Amino acid sequence: MQRILVTGGCGFIGSEFIRRQLATYDDVTIVNLDALTYAGNVENLAEIERHARYEFHKGDIADRDLVMRLLAGNPFDAVVNFAAESHVDRSLLDSGPFVRTNVVGTQVLLDACREAKVPRYVQVSTDEVYGSLGPTGLFTEETPLAPNSPYSASKAAADMLVHAYHHSFHFPAIITRCSNNYGPYQFPEKLLPLFITNLLANEQVPVYGSGQNVRDWIHVSDHCRGIDAALRRGKVGEVYNFGGRCEKTNLEITHLLLELLEKPKTLIRYVADRPGHDLRYAIDCSKAERELGWNPEVTFSEGLRSTIDWYRANSGWVSRVKSGEYRRYYTEQYGARLT
Ligand code: NAD
Ligand code: TYD
Repeated sequence: MQRILVTGGCGFIGSEFIRRQLATYDDVTIVNLDALTYAGNVENLAEIERHARYEFHKGDIADRDLVMRLLAGNPFDAVVNFAAESHVDRSLLDSGPFVRTNVVGTQVLLDACREAKVPRYVQVSTDEVYGSLGPTGLFTEETPLAPNSPYSASKAAADMLVHAYHHSFHFPAIITRCSNNYGPYQFPEKLLPLFITNLLANEQVPVYGSGQNVRDWIHVSDHCRGIDAALRRGKVGEVYNFGGRCEKTNLEITHLLLELLEKPKTLIRYVADRPGHDLRYAIDCSKAERELGWNPEVTFSEGLRSTIDWYRANSGWVSRVKSGEYRRYYTEQYGARLT
């Protein structure tokens, strides 16, 4: 495994994956293709941007000519596709970019990888493709896809395309499906970074509905170790679920944050529920444990504390992201105009 094309590497999970790959393996070169949408921030990779085994290309995975050219001119040992529109609330406002990037972008990557005969492809997907659970039960790899939001519908469509390319053309693909990630560098629109950064600024936190929805939380480093295990040891054509075995209601998380940050309960603001809000996600990750020798290592209490510490120590990153100023960093750094 020497040359890996990572797409969406300037986002939250992709940037963690790239940092870890370069730190863990001496023989890996990473080429990062990222369109730098609002969620893509080159500052997330500031510590490795001049690394001898790292190369950045600004570009859109749905741009067929660009992707075909990049793959034709580069012998890659693997492609790992993180690039996506990733926020459910945004998908409810406008599903267009979700279909374009998550579905068409994946199709373009699959075609380009087939043409270039890339020997391994990993599609980074989500447990949200399985829909919503009631109070009991867990998602397994056999759970039928039943997505409920435009975001999860677009991810499920992408997964089905990946499956179809494997089934029809023996395309060497693996799909990973993970539960809710948290950790450093997460864009502060998702629950944990939004609530942590608001509370650090003594601002209210908007809890949707009654706050009883359940998510299964996993530290981003555990997710990236799982993707690495699937990439290196996974079986082509298989799906692997990753989760943290850590179910919490949103209200439990909110109270935990208030306690850790020593903030008053008056900062909780109940707001109108998200339309079609999935009640509960919970992952059975025993297949990945059994077949990949992977298991989640970071406990929620230690992961949450270190995540809070990171946001506290990186107030500059937070304010640049919240103000949109991080986009100027790119212009200064690369001398290019942002679209
Ligand atoms: P993110 O929103 O932080 O980052 C997405 C990245 O993709 C950004 O750098 C963005 O610029 C880039 N991108 C978007 N559209 C692009 C395009 N058309 N071409 C090239 N690059 C483009 O997302 P994330 O939280 O890091 O999620 C990464 C992947 O993991 C996504 O596929 C997501 O569905 C999946 N996932 C996320 C979670 C989670 O909890 N965040 C859980 C399971 C799976
Ligand atoms: P989110 O981080 O958007 O992830 P996802 O919807 O993909 O699981 O939301 C996690 C949970 O937190 C979800 O049940 C919605 C809820 N939530 C709030 O209550 N308030 C908020 O401001 C946000 C962003 C999410």
